[in-house]
Amino acid sequence: RQDATTDYYRVRMAETQAEVYPGLQTKVLTYNGQFPAATIVAKRGRRAVVTQYNGTSRPTAVHLHGAHLPRKDDGHPMDLVEAGQERVYEYPNTQPGATLWYHDHAHHTEAEQVYRGLAGLYVLDDEAEHDLGLPDGEYDVPLMLRDAQFDPAGQLVFVLAGFAGRQTLLVNGRPQPYFEVAARKYRFRLLNCSNDRTFRLRLSDNRPFQLIGSDSGLLPAPVTVTDFDLSPGERVEAVVDFAPYEIGAQVTLTNDLAEVESAKSVMRFDIARTAADHSRVPPTLRPLPDLGEATVERHILMRVNLGATISSLLDDKVYDPNRIDQRVKLGTTEIWTITNTDVQAGIPHNMHLHLEQFQVLDRDGKPVTGHETGLKDTVLVPAGGNVRIKVRFTDHPGLFVYHCHMLDHSALGMMGQMEIT
Ligand code: C2O
Ligand code: CU
Ligand code: CU
Repeated sequence: RQDATTDYYRVRMAETQAEVYPGLQTKVLTYNGQFPAATIVAKRGRRAVVTQYNGTSRPTAVHLHGAHLPRKDDGHPMDLVEAGQERVYEYPNTQPGATLWYHDHAHHTEAEQVYRGLAGLYVLDDEAEHDLGLPDGEYDVPLMLRDAQFDPAGQLVFVLAGFAGRQTLLVNGRPQPYFEVAARKYRFRLLNCSNDRTFRLRLSDNRPFQLIGSDSGLLPAPVTVTDFDLSPGERVEAVVDFAPYEIGAQVTLTNDLAEVESAKSVMRFDIARTAADHSRVPPTLRPLPDLGEATVERHILMRVNLGATISSLLDDKVYDPNRIDQRVKLGTTEIWTITNTDVQAGIPHNMHLHLEQFQVLDRDGKPVTGHETGLKDTVLVPAGGNVRIKVRFTDHPGLFVYHCHMLDHSALGMMGQMEIT
């Protein structure tokens, strides 16, 4: 259904099957029957109204990660869609173009439900970007990266905090696929939708490429790199130029944070044909907004409690939906210092804020580089690391969460709430 200013979508969540491995049926959870879910392409300036029907046997909550929207449409972990019920989410799509994603957020079970398939991309297409001349159409390609563990029958194995066994990599739901590309520029939108795995990505021949976007869309300027880190929940937009390759050449997207050989190769690009290329990457993309002078400072501690029962803590507390951890005033700019105190255990975390995008000021006192020069909603906080972010709370009062996006950690309590008034 459509009208002049709104697009309507109906989505049905279901327990179904997917052919992850040829000839095998894997039990998965899906949005509209697809594993992973189909990419929703929304237009900036047009509202999207998504009716989510829960055809599974478990409670769900649909969160639009990275979106700036009213509390009722956020997909808060306590705003559940019970089995057999539906909920209507209204997405204003007023923020600048960005690669967002939607995923399950039912508290405690989000880790398992995202792992089993409740995740999809939501590309917010921005007319203002089109004049830049970046690769588009069939040369603008989403890549959802994750790991998983399968049993010999091809079924997903899920153990909360059992990530050590997740050594099979999937791209768009297929194990280490290949993609036939033309010898020209592509814009890739990468999402790490693993529960816990951080990737360090490069091309196998170490060829440089350009990062042009981050969680909240275009960077101020492109950054040429040979690799970058992508922790769970983060997105990166990269322009890779295959023109220098000969037809018939192959190059592999390689993960340098692999603990086993099988987790090294993410996917392969086969340079299959020539193609005209009128796209370009301009020297400037989208300036950072002025977030103003910060008047409030907060400190957040992240650590895992490896006691008799494992829990994950923010400021030494387990998430309590009835507790308000931070009281925030609308219109203020704040600096949050986030510290990961899991030095001994060597456990990385990251921090994700609902509602607002932030600027990453520094990590361990050093200015950030690469895709972290853009506005973000999720930032890696390595073991023993200190990250400072600057965030401005502009509108939309209410209770929103912030949490580690290593979903096994947030399911175990590494989540807090801010009340914005
Ligand atoms: Cu990607 Cu609280 O979520
Ligand atoms: Cu989110
Ligand atoms: Cu964590």
